[in-house]
Amino acid sequence: MAEELLRQFHLSDEEYLALDEVEFRARFRERIHHTLEIQAYAAANGEGKLSADQNSTAKKFLRLWEERKLPKNLPEYLYAEKLVGFSEKLLRGEKLELNEFQPYALTEAEKDAFYKVIFERRSVRHFTDQDVPDELINQILTSGLWAAHSCNLQSIRYLVVREKTTAGLFKGSDVPGGPVHLVVLQDERVYRANPLNPVRNRLIDAGAAAQNIALAAHASGLAGVWLTFNNTMIERISKYFDLPEYIKVVTYVDIGYPNQTPYPPQRLTLEEAVLANV
Ligand SMILES: Cc1cc2nc3c(=O)[nH]c(=O)nc-3n(C[C@H](O)[C@H](O)[C@H](O)COP(=O)(O)O)c2cc1C
Repeated sequence: MAEELLRQFHLSDEEYLALDEVEFRARFRERIHHTLEIQAYAAANGEGKLSADQNSTAKKFLRLWEERKLPKNLPEYLYAEKLVGFSEKLLRGEKLELNEFQPYALTEAEKDAFYKVIFERRSVRHFTDQDVPDELINQILTSGLWAAHSCNLQSIRYLVVREKTTAGLFKGSDVPGGPVHLVVLQDERVYRANPLNPVRNRLIDAGAAAQNIALAAHASGLAGVWLTFNNTMIERISKYFDLPEYIKVVTYVDIGYPNQTPYPPQRLTLEEAVLANV
């Protein structure tokens, strides 16, 4: 089994050139992450040295990218070029100056605002008729894409579905009239291309995106509720949007302007939740 996974993992250049484009890009991101990003930052921190050919895998993938004639302005290509530049600096024995990327420490007021968003976000199930501006929707969805994601594989895809244009499509939902349904999908091809990524990471990737979405909606003055699909809804939505077999409908968050202020459902105490603190 492990051998079979390794065989699927190590492809020849010809196989990489023939690979489906989404799968190739996902493997490109994973290879850059595992063969250069982690090592370059460790070396920059004085923890170990880069081997002379540490960036050879990244360079090979950049070459394959060019041979495939993929656009050179896509984010992962630019990122890989940046890391190769970092690694060359380190290999020349130069110091990597990363100060310009250092986020400034949050002010007390910013910290308070951050925790306010965390603790005051509520699942709101009743909304006004006010339309949600597209700019807000886009910012919220972008927040989902910036969630942590296993090996930076980038499986998240979306459907933005307005209830008023698709009445009945979300029949069976606990909140059938949610004004804007933000559906989190996953492109399974990115995982297919990375068979060593543990399967359990897949749902977690979707959950991390959905949590960012719920928090960003709250921070934007909207409210939302994270909701559960049943199989009938998944089938109905996949059919309605004619989704291919590799696009999986996973979860959704309804957002809109709130018409309800629920009392916070209480949580376990930390004493109950922390099973060890050694
Ligand atoms: C994965 C997931 C699925 C959920 N599904 C539903 C659902 O189907 N219906 C619903 O009314 N709320 C759903 N919720 C919202 C929870 O009921 C809610 O988060 C929980 O009761 C705590 O309340 P709060 O979000 O206001 O803090 C879901 C939340 C999560 C994280």
